[in-house]
Amino acid sequence: MEEPVARYDQIDPTVEARVDDLLGRMTLAEKVGQLVQITPFAPFDVAKMEEQARLAEAEGRPFVFEPEVRADLEELIRAGRAGSIFGTADVALINRCRRAAVEGSRLGIPLVVGNDVIHGLRTVFPIPLAEASTWDPPLLEQAARVAAEEASATGTDWIFAPMVDVARDPRWGRIAEGAGEDSYLGGVMAQARVRGFQAAGLASGQRVAACPKHYVAYGGAEAGRDYNTVDISERTLRDVYLPPFKAAFDAGAGTVMSSFNEIGGVPATCNAFILTTVLRDEWQWAGMVVSDYEAVRELLAHGVAADLADAARRSILAGLDMDMVSNAYADHLAALVDAGQVPIAAVDEAVRRVLRLKIRLGLFEHPYTDEEIAGKVILRDDFREVALRVAQESMVLLKNEGGLLPLAADAGRVAVIGALADNRRELLGCWAFHGQPEDVETVLEGLGAYLEGDRAPVFVPGYTLPTKPAGFPVPGEADGADGKATLDIPAAVAAAREADVVVLVAGESADMSGEAHSRAHLGLPWRQQELLDALAATGKPLVVVLMSGRPLVIPRVAEQATALLAAWHGGIRAGRAIADILFGAVNPSGKLTASWPRTEGQIPVYYAHKNTGRPVSGSGTTQFEEAFKSTYLDVPNAPLFPFGYGLSYTTFAYRDLAVAQRRLGLDGTLEVSVVVKNSGKHAGDEVVQLYVRDLVGSVSRPVKELKAFQRVSLQPGEEQTVRFAVPVRDLGFHGLDMRYTVEPGAFKVWAGPNAVEGLEGDFEVQGD
Ligand code: NOJ
Repeated sequence: MEEPVARYDQIDPTVEARVDDLLGRMTLAEKVGQLVQITPFAPFDVAKMEEQARLAEAEGRPFVFEPEVRADLEELIRAGRAGSIFGTADVALINRCRRAAVEGSRLGIPLVVGNDVIHGLRTVFPIPLAEASTWDPPLLEQAARVAAEEASATGTDWIFAPMVDVARDPRWGRIAEGAGEDSYLGGVMAQARVRGFQAAGLASGQRVAACPKHYVAYGGAEAGRDYNTVDISERTLRDVYLPPFKAAFDAGAGTVMSSFNEIGGVPATCNAFILTTVLRDEWQWAGMVVSDYEAVRELLAHGVAADLADAARRSILAGLDMDMVSNAYADHLAALVDAGQVPIAAVDEAVRRVLRLKIRLGLFEHPYTDEEIAGKVILRDDFREVALRVAQESMVLLKNEGGLLPLAADAGRVAVIGALADNRRELLGCWAFHGQPEDVETVLEGLGAYLEGDRAPVFVPGYTLPTKPAGFPVPGEADGADGKATLDIPAAVAAAREADVVVLVAGESADMSGEAHSRAHLGLPWRQQELLDALAATGKPLVVVLMSGRPLVIPRVAEQATALLAAWHGGIRAGRAIADILFGAVNPSGKLTASWPRTEGQIPVYYAHKNTGRPVSGSGTTQFEEAFKSTYLDVPNAPLFPFGYGLSYTTFAYRDLAVAQRRLGLDGTLEVSVVVKNSGKHAGDEVVQLYVRDLVGSVSRPVKELKAFQRVSLQPGEEQTVRFAVPVRDLGFHGLDMRYTVEPGAFKVWAGPNAVEGLEGDFEVQGD
């Protein structure tokens, strides 16, 4: 195997001296131990868990799953057979493990403790897809910093986030965890999150290392089914899926998690092209790669390894440094080295990367977590404030017919319908293991701040939330599972009839998105549509607040609702944020970062698509209007709501797009300005977006690509000249020879409020 080279500026010579010294003292078994990551818990016993759940239900108390600590935990660590643990925020347990490593093992090498902190630890923020909908990187940086402070205080050194997978298929439940469909936006958000996580500095007491994941193309899963096959071209890999990772590394991320999926037949876990050619040879990245959960063992199921030893061999030779829980390295790596099947240099290189991380995290100097701190850091008021701001900025107003919103203080009687309005748990969203329902403000509580006393809203649940994820019904499902959902339409309709305005809180539960939670039908679950039909028939003004972990397919809802707000799973302050928006204390400013399809049949539908040889003239056309073009017979190509879309209570007028220099050299900068005016009656924020199109390339180019954006705040009547500067070197792509190049030629540029509207200009890039 070729010796990987690390760029000099990534390597601190004092760190290297310590790494060399330590490595020289380690036995092969100790080296292997550093590459092994375990959880402190015994294997998950589903039957036992179900029994505990039944008992809790019978006793009428909430069920909290408490995994059993493995019996050999400390012994294993003392023997130097585990270099990292993950999956707990129990500080006492973490310190027990840390002590076993530092005081009990021969060389006293500290553990690095990982954890999934995906959108906050105890201060749960909106799901990452919602966070991205703020288009506010500085705010995301603050949110990530809050998450890091809480995580660090509870014993985490290393956060398995940000999830930077580009996701163009909303069936995929993990679309909730990332920044959406766009590579550029994904990179900007990844950088904000990495900076936020690592803000305190790696070697401070409050240190946390980021771990962008899942490397790479995990979001390209066929049919939106989690863990499924990915088969994309090298060009798409390089132009779309790799850039957010590169951006995260450029912002200082020193670790990465490889993905479960294969790419063109080679699982990422043992894929030398992505783990060595791209990471080490091309990017000269010196960081550490951890596998995903049991992914080394999964090479057997993929059918690319005959046994676990073979899986270990393939993975280490490809460039995978740490094995998360599959025990392949623990059980086989030393023997593989002894048998000459794996060169010791490959093991040494992986160990170096782990030691470097531990040294840079300051773990040798501060190996323990202060058990007094945790309680003081968690859920601080200033953290809750950041969570509120993120929730407010993340929500996207999709429709507001006749300016129904914001509701006036004297809007009359308000009926609130929908079990989700009185729920805490679901607002936490997926991946909120450490979130507590009691920390969450419900929508009803939020509304209470505006509708007090005799103006308090009438509340009718209308539908029931399923208690078990496995039982959740899916619209259109033939077996009638949806029929298990119970509705109380008469009570809801009666309340609506008595009211002046109806607010229906509808959507998905938290467990309908996230890992292994893909859906094939993306409409409203639990017969909510029947309830909505009945409410719409009352003719009352109808506000639909939609909670979800993904873009939903809701053309009928969008027609029936007078006003429609995408509220996602908005975290602990979601209830308050929704109320602030409905009553106008906050003017919505979120914009979609993933297109909302009209029907599942359009998927994947994304703005940066190719033109094809037979493009339609307008994106709304069907085959009947333009024959033999790339269209459908039954729906237009355009999504229901495009990327970048989101309304405000005010309006923004765009004028005077100006391109400073219409002819640019390869080392030039594209400077574009546009005047944006608040032409309505409310103060508001607009996210001004800049897109380009490279008209002719050696390979085909997307019809539009986001290159920059700015959030501006404008008072009514106020206008601002928004200026963008994009280096010409950022207008490139991987050309015919698969090298990144900016090809001279004509470009179009747009500045506008979303991916389909905006003012157009043009410019030309000239060669040397
Ligand atoms: C599997 C998930 O894919 C990954 O995102 C997560 O970090 C690991 N499990 C650890 O929980």
